[in-house]
Amino acid sequence: MKLLVTGGAGFIGSNFVHYLLKTHPEDEVTVLDDLTYAGNLENLKVVEENAHFRFVKGNINDIELVETLVAECDIIVHFAAESHVDRSIIDPGVFVLTNVHGTYVLLEAARKHNKRFHHVSTDEVFGALGTADAPFDESTAYDPRSPYSASKAASDHLVRAYFHTYGLPITISNCSNNYGPYHFPEKLIPLAITNLLEGKSVPVYGDGLQVRDWLYVEDHCRAIDLIIHQGKLGETYCIGGNAEKENIWIVKKLLALLGKDESSIEYVKDRAGHDRRYAINYSKIERELGWRPEVTLEEGLTKTVAWFQENETWWKNVKSGDYQKYYVKQYENR
Ligand code: NAD
Ligand code: DAU
Repeated sequence: MKLLVTGGAGFIGSNFVHYLLKTHPEDEVTVLDDLTYAGNLENLKVVEENAHFRFVKGNINDIELVETLVAECDIIVHFAAESHVDRSIIDPGVFVLTNVHGTYVLLEAARKHNKRFHHVSTDEVFGALGTADAPFDESTAYDPRSPYSASKAASDHLVRAYFHTYGLPITISNCSNNYGPYHFPEKLIPLAITNLLEGKSVPVYGDGLQVRDWLYVEDHCRAIDLIIHQGKLGETYCIGGNAEKENIWIVKKLLALLGKDESSIEYVKDRAGHDRRYAINYSKIERELGWRPEVTLEEGLTKTVAWFQENETWWKNVKSGDYQKYYVKQYENR
């Protein structure tokens, strides 16, 4: 199978490319990625010599380029996006451009060439849960609350509309919070680990009692692989980690893994419109495709801490780039 993987130089996309070339060595993978602040060719270094792998630098809004690449592939697996909620609060425009318009450009090319399309989306489209609410599932109504989640919700709706209107062979997955190797250190877990390795404190937003459902990234990649091979066309699959934890629990766990005490915690001003709780009921994908998370949170966090300890050059290079400028801007805006 020939796959066009958009956003393959980012966190989940690069893990997916590694997973694919390991589990389906006969497949041919083209990554289309514009190498924004979040894209990094170092993430693809382990596959760069693989004859079944090709990298194309380009924007998903480049219609001509997208058409050429879509014509050559069997399936588009669409990861490319602006992915960070805090950035969407500061600068929503690029989220609309990439996540909504970029998805539209890909869909149009897929429609023209009648190609299979898998859209990688998020549980944030469903809004926020209260403590006693049942977890999100495929029947939960959309209620996005940040510019990021609103842009992802818009793209989900477009993808579904192309199925109903044009019969485009699509699937969608809505996944909870991922963590693992190559995670960009602006997100809670890699930010906490790298700050602690640098002897800095960990910023905890508000009271730290917000809840996320954590999934080790390789489990997410395995779920997407199953959906693109066995998923039912037109369907949505919710993917979660069965690992709901308060943010402060995660931070304290990382402190313990790195031999630090609670003096490294710094409570800071809360995120605007901060969603209180996310959780996923993944029984549909379990029932229909036999998927369930395999890596426990304990194992996953231990492996992730070890990866960051062993890959200091990777994260030090990332942190010394545009990332720093962004944080200066973010804190000025608080
Ligand atoms: P990321 O920010 O690490 O990577 C995004 C990648 O997309 C980068 O390589 C970037 O260069 C590329 N990109 C951005 N704009 C582009 C454009 N206009 N044209 C071409 N390439 C572009 O993101 P991630 O965390 O790996 O998330 C990947 C996808 O998974 C996103 O669609 C996100 O919404 C979704 N998702 C993420 C999580 C999570 O926990 N990280 C959970 C559920 C769903
Ligand atoms: O739920 C899936 C989503 O998970 C994905 O769609 C997004 O792309 C991904 O970024 C992630 O969104 P979150 O906003 O949940 O992830 P983040 O790591 O930014 O924050 C996790 C929680 O930790 C959230 O409640 C905010 C909090 N937080 C975050 C940072 C960066 C802190 O307390 N301190 C921090 O410094």
